[in-house]
Amino acid sequence: MPGERSLSDVLRNSLNHGDLPFRDFVELALYHPEFGYYARPESPVGREGDFITSPLLSPLFSFALGRLIDEFMSRAGDALSQVVDIGCGDGALIGALAQGVGGRGSGVGVSGALSPTPDSRLPTPQFFGVDRNLGRAQPHPGVTYATSLGDIPPAEARLLINNELFDALPFARLVQRGDELHELWVTERDGALDWTEHEADARYDEYFAERGIGLDDGQFADVSLEWPALYDDLCRFVPKGLIVTFDYGLPQTKLFRGRMRRFGTAAAYSRHRVSRDLLVNPGEQDLTAHINFDDLRLTGERQGFATRFFDIQAKFLLALGAAEHELLKPIGEVTVDNAEDGIAVLEARDDARRLILPDGIGADIRVLVQERGMGREEWGFQTKLF
Ligand SMILES: C[S@@+](CC[C@H](N)C(=O)[O-])C[C@H]1O[C@@H](n2cnc3c(N)ncnc32)[C@H](O)[C@@H]1O
Repeated sequence: MPGERSLSDVLRNSLNHGDLPFRDFVELALYHPEFGYYARPESPVGREGDFITSPLLSPLFSFALGRLIDEFMSRAGDALSQVVDIGCGDGALIGALAQGVGGRGSGVGVSGALSPTPDSRLPTPQFFGVDRNLGRAQPHPGVTYATSLGDIPPAEARLLINNELFDALPFARLVQRGDELHELWVTERDGALDWTEHEADARYDEYFAERGIGLDDGQFADVSLEWPALYDDLCRFVPKGLIVTFDYGLPQTKLFRGRMRRFGTAAAYSRHRVSRDLLVNPGEQDLTAHINFDDLRLTGERQGFATRFFDIQAKFLLALGAAEHELLKPIGEVTVDNAEDGIAVLEARDDARRLILPDGIGADIRVLVQERGMGREEWGFQTKLF
């Protein structure tokens, strides 16, 4: 509206007309076109930002995905093929993949260390980055950006990657009160944002009923109806190929287990600190909730995809050969020119290890890989490691 100069103005104007479902509050806080968290020019992701994601933590991530691209291309043969990163943010991952593969071995990874040395006999795919907000996307040789999958030209085979896309979708906060499911809304009380409860939108009652999930009295749960809807769009986009999803989330029996997650999973991130204070500083902190991976898996299976992998990120990256990256070679084989370089190498080695150790990001992020139309043969990442 004219005269609005901040997200607080936008929220105040909206709340003058009545309370706001928390889901719509998240939509505004993250994606308001002018004042939303993801509309800000500076990237929220990275060491200087509010949280770190795997591609920005270590080039080990793009190295391992480069291996996957090689395997994908060897199976796609002469088919016109594309690698697409949806929710690409600043494009660092798709840029590193395009440089590693398009540059055939000359590649430099996301943080400057070596990325994959691809097989130069394979055809080169086209590379696309897709994000609903491309304000932060950096130019990368060989990468074309789009704001929607619908803007990408046709292809015969696609490798569609997404990292922390689904946990960034607006979500509702529900709470069970006796026999009734309530939905949390946002109101203004004494000049400050506060919570209020309404009977839940019937779509959330249906969500739990269809999945046979019952919440305990007083149990909170965070749900996005966009999880299955967006995944359905991803499936339609891939006539033949793979969808590879990296995200914080769990199968539904664990995600909605009252004993473990009585207060849901919603969290706010600012300057690498996590808090449960979801209403403070709207537009200036990230809001996120763990996803229900069954929503994605079952949507894909209904669309004719086969589930090829569902496990923690550490196992996936190791199965792709991440341990062969130079950052993980024995320390005795590493040579550096000076102490500063030595410290930088030690830090980079620590970050690389964080991705493949079965705790922290290596275990909290799960990977779902679904495939359609590429044959029954097992993929390298399906190798049993342990
Ligand atoms: C948590 S960030 C992850 C960025 C990047 N993938 C990374 O790992 O660093 C989530 C990104 O998803 C984008 N996004 C959210 N909903 C989207 C949608 N429906 N289509 C495309 N991008 C979306 C946001 O704009 C944001 O850039």
